[in-house]
Amino acid sequence: MSEMLLDVRDMELRYGAAIAVRGVSFTINRGQFVAVIGNNGAGKSSMVRGATGLVRPSGGQVYFRGEDTAHLSADRKVARGLVMVPEGRLLFPDQTVKDNLILGAYLRGGLKDDASCATFEKVLELFPRLNERLLQQAGSMSGGEQQMLAIARGLMAQPELLIIDELSLGLAPKIVDQLLTTLSKLNREGLTILLVEQLASHALAVADYGFVVSNGRITRQGPSCELARDPEVMEAFLGKKKAFSTPKPKE
Ligand SMILES: Nc1ncnc2c1ncn2[C@@H]1O[C@H](COP(=O)(O)OP(=O)(O)O)[C@@H](O)[C@H]1O
Ligand SMILES: [Mg+2]
Repeated sequence: MSEMLLDVRDMELRYGAAIAVRGVSFTINRGQFVAVIGNNGAGKSSMVRGATGLVRPSGGQVYFRGEDTAHLSADRKVARGLVMVPEGRLLFPDQTVKDNLILGAYLRGGLKDDASCATFEKVLELFPRLNERLLQQAGSMSGGEQQMLAIARGLMAQPELLIIDELSLGLAPKIVDQLLTTLSKLNREGLTILLVEQLASHALAVADYGFVVSNGRITRQGPSCELARDPEVMEAFLGKKKAFSTPKPKE
């Protein structure tokens, strides 16, 4: 069986008195491509913020590669390979593309060792647009290019698990498809991915497993192809009517 990378047990997360995540348990195994779908405000971002420790959960445990993350600093977690591309990208807009990439590798000492240089070459090959814009200010690029940079910066940290929160936010469908194709390729090459995405059909098309989050809980989960055919999921998230709608009474 493949190695369990992330193991979240009975997580609760609050903002003050408001509970955003309750009783959430899930695991991610090495090699998986998992999608988290759900409506706006369902608790998807809170779930991954809790899993990475960006917001400290108010209950439960989070293990990464067998280690209880409650005692690990943010730096240690990134160094162990738990890396998140946050919602809204959070690039350094006044810095160049190259500097943003180097900042992604800061725990590896920037571009000082062979592995970091090889990763740098690899991300530029993966995203040629960034290669053409290395000295451009990150904030002056298009939304799609900035999302490429945010993913590329995440890759520079040499993740074992890459968590991406809202890949498609504000992007044209064509760009979203391009980015998803790139993520698919990375997953086939061995990268484990957890993708939080409001565009449910897109996410389920590339992921192999999915979680549906609603009201701070995981309400449904399963192989993506099964979720994509599930009448409840179709109606709630995929904009399709239930296949078994009640027939009209005969005249
Ligand atoms: N920083 C915050 N402070 C207070 N409440 C928040 C904060 N972030 C999110 N929430 C609330 O937590 C709930 C879940 O939000 P979120 O995790 O962002 O959902 P999603 O990512 O699915 O849109 C919502 O009710 C939201 O208003
Ligand atoms: Mg969110």
